[in-house]
Amino acid sequence: MNITELLYPINSFLQCQTPQSWIDEAIKPENLPILLLDHCNCELKAAQTAMLLLRRYAVDQQSSDALLAWLKPYEDFVYRKIGNGDFSDYVHLSKKLISKSDFEHGDELISKMVLLIKEELHHFQQVWEIMQSRGIAYDNLTASRYARGMMKCVRTHEPAKLSDTLICGAYIEARSCERFAKLAPYLDDELEKFYVSLLRSEARHFQDYLTLATKISLTSIDQRISFFGDKEAELIQIPDQEFRFHSGSFANCS
Ligand SMILES: [Fe+2]
Ligand SMILES: [Fe+2]
Repeated sequence: MNITELLYPINSFLQCQTPQSWIDEAIKPENLPILLLDHCNCELKAAQTAMLLLRRYAVDQQSSDALLAWLKPYEDFVYRKIGNGDFSDYVHLSKKLISKSDFEHGDELISKMVLLIKEELHHFQQVWEIMQSRGIAYDNLTASRYARGMMKCVRTHEPAKLSDTLICGAYIEARSCERFAKLAPYLDDELEKFYVSLLRSEARHFQDYLTLATKISLTSIDQRISFFGDKEAELIQIPDQEFRFHSGSFANCS
């Protein structure tokens, strides 16, 4: 599949394109460290979201502990400044995850989310390596309002809560993919190649979330997709003060 084919379902799913003012901001050389750092954070957050879903809905206690242990070195490094940031000899998931017997879609959630976590952690490592090679230090950065703004709208009763969370996941993945594609042509060769290489896995992540949401929901999710689509487009289009990977538009004051 070529890039145009990959992007077609993503651009049909998203209800707006990234504003040019965000792209203009993102390609300013002085914003590159924030772009990479926030992107790196987003990769870890994507892995954490998938892990949370597995722990909340799908796996038994021992498997839940194994998942926590899997992400711990990354979280220690990012949030607690523990370790030197070298994950090369790092051990992967230590056991086969066992699904809870009372959750019908456990096995499917496990297989899709474990693969997703693996890929997100790999992306995290790739961005971090690029940052290191460019002398960009790991630093804590406030999160943009984007993911929080989406998650605020998730209903609180089940199975609506799970299917809404999965729909939010689909939008966040799809937007990331759209932004990688938008940014790639403006970046240097190494970053352009890297962002294009991310498109394929992120495109599948969006589809996986959507497939799971459809299967888990007892009724049609079309209305919820359109609801979150509107919300997502609003968050992407309204002006933002702070530049982040998922921030909104920028008033041009330069
Ligand atoms: Fe990723
Ligand atoms: Fe992803």
